[in-house]
Amino acid sequence: MPPTASFSCALVTGASSGLGEEFAFQIAPRVGKLVLVARRETLLSQLADRIRSKFPHVAVAVFAVDLNVSAEREQLVKNLTSAGFLPDLLVNNAGLGDYGEFATAEWDKLQSMLSVNIEALTHLSHSLLPEMIRRGGGAIINVSSLASVIPIPDFAVYAATKAYVTSFSEALRIELREHHIPVLAVCPGPVRTEFGQVSKRSPESRGMPTKKSFYVPKEQVVAESLAALDRKSARVYPGLKTAAAALVLSALPMVVLRFAMGFRPRR
Ligand SMILES: NC(=O)c1ccc[n+]([C@@H]2O[C@H](COP(=O)([O-])OP(=O)(O)OC[C@H]3O[C@@H](n4cnc5c(N)ncnc54)[C@H](OP(=O)(O)O)[C@@H]3O)[C@@H](O)[C@H]2O)c1
Repeated sequence: MPPTASFSCALVTGASSGLGEEFAFQIAPRVGKLVLVARRETLLSQLADRIRSKFPHVAVAVFAVDLNVSAEREQLVKNLTSAGFLPDLLVNNAGLGDYGEFATAEWDKLQSMLSVNIEALTHLSHSLLPEMIRRGGGAIINVSSLASVIPIPDFAVYAATKAYVTSFSEALRIELREHHIPVLAVCPGPVRTEFGQVSKRSPESRGMPTKKSFYVPKEQVVAESLAALDRKSARVYPGLKTAAAALVLSALPMVVLRFAMGFRPRR
């Protein structure tokens, strides 16, 4: 078994719910300092209290930030520097989806998706990497998706944002090898979090059709991700069925995928 990597300070975006909350909890025993970032400050503070009581050695800082806004991201980096919470483990987890046809989507939601899923992840990596390199190490976990492997009608922009995340992570990993900074792309299939609700266009509309047996618990997704980080893997598809689906989808020629996606169940 590879040794368990430990870090001085980890920053988790999207820590107010779902996978981010779970990442924060499972990373806590590996760090001295932990930074929780999202918009909902009350949820972050409640999580910080739970982490402090279970792991008293960890100093936890909470930053309420709208990652959609470039100026807020810049202010976050300044605040991290002045508070002495510069991370050597960055978990770019915050993200959102929008399920439905592209032509009828609300532009504001598409813009948020592009901004949080792509821009914020790239901006934070770019802002925080120089210090990791200067200090001689660190790691980045980018939460992508199984959706990054294929173009998905009715989830077109979301799948494309995640294709960016996986591609960016793979290339960055090679650039950072000489600096001993592993980069991991986490590519989950369906997980029960707030993601499904947020992806819906209205509370009444049906979400993405997914078989119940395909869901992987968030605890397993995060545990497999951290094990993959310890192995310095490039990608992880947590859960056996997700890994099998990724294998099959990646092997199929585009012409077959196009044909198959045409028969996909619609809303
Ligand atoms: N659940 C799935 O089936 C699934 C599958 C594959 C990949 N993923 C990916 O996993 C990651 C985590 O999603 P999840 O499933 O845990 O969903 P979730 O429960 O909806 O969590 C999303 C997190 O992102 C944060 N966020 C969204 N917009 C933000 C903004 N503008 N500024 C700051 N934070 C923002 C949310 O916090 P606030 O609302 O408090 O800001 C929340 O903490 C995402 O990147 C998602 O694409 C999820």
